[in-house]
Formats: sequence, structure tokens, C-alpha cells
Amino acid sequence: MIKVAFYDTKPYDKPSFEKYGKQKGIEYKFLETRLNEDTADLARGCDAVCVFVNDTVNQAVINRLYDYGVKLIALRSAGYNNVDVKAAFGKIHVVHVPAYSPYSVAEYAMALLLTSIRRIHKAYNRTREFNFSLNGLTGFDLHGKTVGVIGTGKIGRIFIQICRGFGMHVIAYDLFPAKNSGIEYVSLDELFARSDVISLHCPLTEETRHMISKESIEKMKDGVVIINTSRGGLIDTEALLSGIKARKIGAACLDVYEEEADIFFEDRSGHILNDDLLSRLISMPNVIVTAHQAFLTKDALNNIAETTVNNILSCFEKDGICDNELCYRCGSIEQCRKDRKDRCF
Ligand code: NAI
Repeated sequence: MIKVAFYDTKPYDKPSFEKYGKQKGIEYKFLETRLNEDTADLARGCDAVCVFVNDTVNQAVINRLYDYGVKLIALRSAGYNNVDVKAAFGKIHVVHVPAYSPYSVAEYAMALLLTSIRRIHKAYNRTREFNFSLNGLTGFDLHGKTVGVIGTGKIGRIFIQICRGFGMHVIAYDLFPAKNSGIEYVSLDELFARSDVISLHCPLTEETRHMISKESIEKMKDGVVIINTSRGGLIDTEALLSGIKARKIGAACLDVYEEEADIFFEDRSGHILNDDLLSRLISMPNVIVTAHQAFLTKDALNNIAETTVNNILSCFEKDGICDNELCYRCGSIEQCRKDRKDRCF
């Protein structure tokens, strides 16, 4: 029996993980708390920890888990910016779910875009109060508009297909452009200058942090719509708010927020929100904020559980390959993952 401390458990996590795990001899210790230096203790006696996007897996936490004999950190997410993979190297294996349903996120990005530009969120509230006025609900067609997609990996490329279905003209920027993809790659500056809609689908790294900044916003078209379903840190939120107040940015659709860790995923409706920046954004008529929900489909949850359980089993098999491992053996997490045919250490 492999014992797994399952941090930040939500009611929607349990059914799929229990279904796949129980059949395969995994015993979970479901914990509602998040992993951090104060809660690492709860993993004593466990073989592995299973964590999500807002668990803190820094060097101190990793060292503590290592002392307790934890051998594996299994991320049940694609993004891994919250894990110090370098600090884990040589001590604890780290695995993630590289793809579970890129459709869930790409479709959600389009859902946010349509809701925002056709003012569906406003109309929904109005008709619930029997207000059938159309004043102030004028939108614009997507057909013929230019969308700039930053990051053309699994999610970005599906989003591109969806946009093409709407008759949009697609331009893109990626550090590693996909060869023979038929995608029109341009420089970041050109993308900012030409796009009516900009959608972020690249990971959060030191390089991409605050790629949407005061300077980049100045380069954008007036009325640009910004969609972020990737990671909050890609946007300098203060700069975004200034751009909205200056009427430079036409609308913002945000499923992620740079300070989301202490706010999202919980019901805070009975409390006064201490984050003034987020409160101000939410109060804007042309901003939609959702709480990191883009991944949340039944299909994605099943795929996440199935892949995570397989990742865990593969790492505990004697001499087995640790599936979907992240590491620094080659000095680059991505490169290592692509070349590796074995465990990283
Ligand atoms: P992916 O790894 O398939 O694609 C990422 C792309 O970004 C790659 O093509 C890569 O070359 C590119 N990239 C890397 N550095 C870049 C840079 N500096 N500038 C421009 N492009 C760069 O990842 P996938 O599956 O498409 O996911 C994208 C992001 O979506 C993840 O990093 C994650 O943060 C986010 N995500 C959000 C979810 C949500 O529920 N809101 C759920 C799943 C993922």
C-alpha cells in the first residue's frame, strides 16, 4: 500500500482519485489544509505527497518532507512554478500531469471572451431582475478581428483552432515556435501592436513574469481585450488596472490572479476582502474574474486522477521509469523531460 498525503483537498477531487487510486493500492490521507512549512508535518509516515497549484513546495518544505522519508511530490496540475524543482533534485522525485484536457482551458478562454465582449454577465444579472433593457450591452463581432496568442503549446494551439472557427485572424508568439504548424509567428512587440484580443497560454517563468506591464500595455491597440487563463504572475495587476482606468484596455478576462494563493478556491463571501487591487478589478464593468476554474471539467478531473495515480505507481515500481518526472539533470526542466528514458536520479 502506497500512502499519499493529499493536500488542499476539495470535494470535487475525491471521487476521481478514490476511483483510480483504490483499484491500484493507493491509500490517501485527505487534508483540507495546503502544504507549507507549518503543515509539512502532516506528511510524516507517507510515501508521497499530492499537491495542487497553491501549495508551497519551496526548499524548506522539500527538506522537511525529505527528512520525513517522503519520496515523491506528485503535482495534480500541469504548471509547476510553485515547486522548487532544483531543490528537490537528488532528494525527492517530482512528477506532474503534462496534459489532462487542454480543451477544458482553451474552451474556457473562449467562454470568457464571448461572455465579456457580448456582455452576457451583465445581461444574465439584468434578466434575473426582469430588466430587459439592452442599453449598454453592445458588443463586437469576433469575425475578422486579430487575436494574438502568447504560448502555442497544447492549450494555445487548441485556442487557435477555436479562434479560427470564429473567422478570426491569428498571430502568435512563442519562445519555441512550432515548426510546420501554419501559425503566423510574430515578435512580441508586433503581437502587442496588432492584436484586438490577446490570450496568454505560456508558463510563468522569471522571463515571462509581468510580460503584461505598463510598457507592453502602452504598445497595445486601444480597446484591446486581455485573457489570462495561464498564471496570474504573467500580468502586472497594477499596470492592468491603470490601463483599464485609462480606457486603454477594453476588457480583461482573468481566471488567474498573481495574489490568488491566499484568496482563490475558498468561499470568502462572508468576509471583507483585504486585497484592494482585486476588489477594484472585480468592481469594473469590463472585467471578469473567475477563481482558477478553467481546468474544471469532469473529463479533466478524470484525466488528472488517472495520470497522477499512474505517475505515483510508476515511481514506486522497482527500477521503473518515473513517468512525467520534472528535474534539473540537464539544467533545463523541459529539456530533461523530453530526452529522458529513465529516472532522473
Ligand atoms: P505547454 O507546455 O504545452 O505550452 C506552453 C508553451 O509556452 C510552449 O509552447 C512553450 O514553448 C511556450 N513558452 C515557454 N516560455 C515562453 C516564453 N518566455 N514566451 C512565450 N512562450 C513561451 O503548456 P500548456 O499545457 O499549453 O499550458 C499552458 C499554461 O496554462 C500552463 O503553463 C499553466 O500555467 C496554464 N494552465 C492553467 C490552467 C487553469 O485552470 N487556469 C490549467 C492548466 C494549465
